[in-house]
Amino acid sequence: MNTVRLGDIAPDFVAKTTKGTLNFHEWLADGWGMLVSHPADFTPVCTTELGAMANYKEEFDERNVKVAAISVDPLGSHLEWIKDIEETQHTKVNFPIIADEEGKVAQLYGMIHPNDDVTMTVRSVFIIAPDKKVKLILTYPASTGRNFEELLRVIDSLQLTQYESLATPANWKNGEDCVILPSVSNEEAEKMFPKGFVEVKPYLRLTPQV
Ligand code: BEZ
Repeated sequence: MNTVRLGDIAPDFVAKTTKGTLNFHEWLADGWGMLVSHPADFTPVCTTELGAMANYKEEFDERNVKVAAISVDPLGSHLEWIKDIEETQHTKVNFPIIADEEGKVAQLYGMIHPNDDVTMTVRSVFIIAPDKKVKLILTYPASTGRNFEELLRVIDSLQLTQYESLATPANWKNGEDCVILPSVSNEEAEKMFPKGFVEVKPYLRLTPQV
């Protein structure tokens, strides 16, 4: 079983999907990516999750994030299940669902936790930056559906770090004050953040979101 850790290059793969063959790195190109595993097709929580993910398409597009789902179910099953997702969640499934029947991608990413379930993929999320490095890993149990608002919040935070040298404090929401990265000196911060910053402590400096 492979283990993917933060900072690793996301393992590349070629797989069958509901939108044709996917060459993962090539498909990501120079954008961000989010790979989301689910335990099984035709299950209730997964149905609501993939519907929610489809309904967030505009939000992912705005952030230049390509999304894909994956489970070990066969392609035919995914294609049949999509009809149910679209009917019950009032959406169009606009992203590829990977048919990882042999569990090759699941093994590469450590998506099978045998002490939880020997065959089904757990509910994991991998967020990948344009340099293909893994920036976030989350794993939920099969019984808990993920919060897509939280995933967008993390993407916003990751992009603030990547592009603005900012971090985000506890419970941060888009538009609230951000934390200046410790690697940025006060002199640099004065130039970088024209709205100024408040030094609560030398290591805790807050600035309005750019
Ligand atoms: C679900 O998606 O509802 C689910 C899948 C596997 C186990 C339990 C729940």
